[in-house]
Amino acid sequence: MINKKILITGGAGFIGSHLSKKLLSKGYNIIIIDNFNEFYNPEIKEENFKSIKEVAKKYCCELTLYRGDIRDTTLINKIFDENLINGVVSLAIMQVRPSIEDPLYYVDVNLLGLTNLLEAAKNHEIKSFVFISSSSVYGNNKKVPFSEKDPVDNPISPYAATKKAGELMCYTYHSLFEMNIACLRYFTVYGPGQRPDLAINKFTRLMLEDEEIPMFGDGTTSRDYTYISDIIDGTIKALDYVMQQNKHIYDIFNLGGSHPISLKELINVIAKTLDKSPRIKQLPMQSGDVDITYSDFSHAKEVLGYEPKVLIDEGIKLFVNWYIKHAK
Ligand SMILES: NC(=O)c1ccc[n+]([C@@H]2O[C@H](COP(=O)([O-])OP(=O)(O)OC[C@H]3O[C@@H](n4cnc5c(N)ncnc54)[C@H](O)[C@@H]3O)[C@@H](O)[C@H]2O)c1
Repeated sequence: MINKKILITGGAGFIGSHLSKKLLSKGYNIIIIDNFNEFYNPEIKEENFKSIKEVAKKYCCELTLYRGDIRDTTLINKIFDENLINGVVSLAIMQVRPSIEDPLYYVDVNLLGLTNLLEAAKNHEIKSFVFISSSSVYGNNKKVPFSEKDPVDNPISPYAATKKAGELMCYTYHSLFEMNIACLRYFTVYGPGQRPDLAINKFTRLMLEDEEIPMFGDGTTSRDYTYISDIIDGTIKALDYVMQQNKHIYDIFNLGGSHPISLKELINVIAKTLDKSPRIKQLPMQSGDVDITYSDFSHAKEVLGYEPKVLIDEGIKLFVNWYIKHAK
C-alpha cells in the first residue's frame, strides 16, 4: 500500500478522472476538487466521478470529493487543513477557444486559481506539485519538433498565455519556497471519455449521424495526438519524480506522441474506422488555432522514462469502440 494522498484539481474532468482511477488502482488515496462547470455537460463529469468511486471501492483506497472552485481561498485552505496531502496535480482550468472572447475569466481561473493552490501548498509545507501546461505555449513556432528549450514568448491565445504564465508562477514558488515542481506540456489528448468539444469526439459523433464535418482551414494543420494512457503514465512518472525527497526540482516536460497528423488525415482515419465516407464542409481557420503541434519528448524520456506506446490508428479504434458503447 502506497499510503500517499494526492490532491487532483479538475479530477472529474476527462484527464483528471483517468488520472484519479489510475492512481487509486496503484494504492494512492485521492482528493478531488472540481466545480463541475458547464463548459460541457456536467452529467459527463458526474458519470466520471461515479466510475472513480467504483475504482476507489475496488482497491479500498480513500476518495474525497470537494465540490467547489479553485479560486475559493477558504475552501482550498480547508482542504489542506483537513487532509495530510503529499502532492498536488493541477488540472482544473478553462479551455482554449472561448479564451479569446473572455480573457479575464481565463486569467481568473487559470492564473489566480493556480496561485491560490500554490500559496496553500506553500503554507502547508507541501513540496510536490505538478502543473498541467499545454503545447499551445509554443504558439506558431516554426522549428519542429518543439523542444522545452525553444522560446515560448509568442502565445497566440489568452489560454496559451495563461499556461505560460502558470509555468512562470510555478518557477517563482519553486525558487522562493523550495517546492519541487514539474510543468507538463500536454499535446492534444484523446481516448475514452474525451471532451465532447474536441475534434476526435465531435467528428465521430457527426460521422455516425451522417452529418457534415466542419473542417477549419484547408485540412493541412496538424496535431500531435497523444493517447490518454500514455499521458497518464507520463503524469504519474512526473508526480513520482517531484515526490522524491532531498531534491530541488523545477522542470518542464513535453508529453506528446511525436507523430503529428494533418486534420484531413485525422478525418480519414476516423472515417475508415467507422466505415463512413465523410462529407466535409470547409470553413475559415479559427483565430487562436496554431498550424502544427509536434513534440520532442526526449527530455521526458531521459528523466522520467516516458515512452508513448499507442499510435493514432490503434488509439482511434479504442476511442471509437468506447464511443459506440458509452457516449451520450
Ligand atoms: N485535453 C487536451 O487535449 C489537453 C491538451 C493540453 C493541455 N490540457 C490540459 O489538461 C487539463 C485537463 O483537461 P481536460 O481535457 O481533462 O479538461 P476537462 O474540462 O475535461 O477537465 C477540467 C476539469 O476542471 C474543472 N474546473 C474548471 N474550472 C474549475 C474551477 N475554477 N474550479 C474547480 N474545478 C474547475 C472542470 O469542471 C473539469 O471537470 C487542463 O489543464 C488542460 O488545459 C488538455
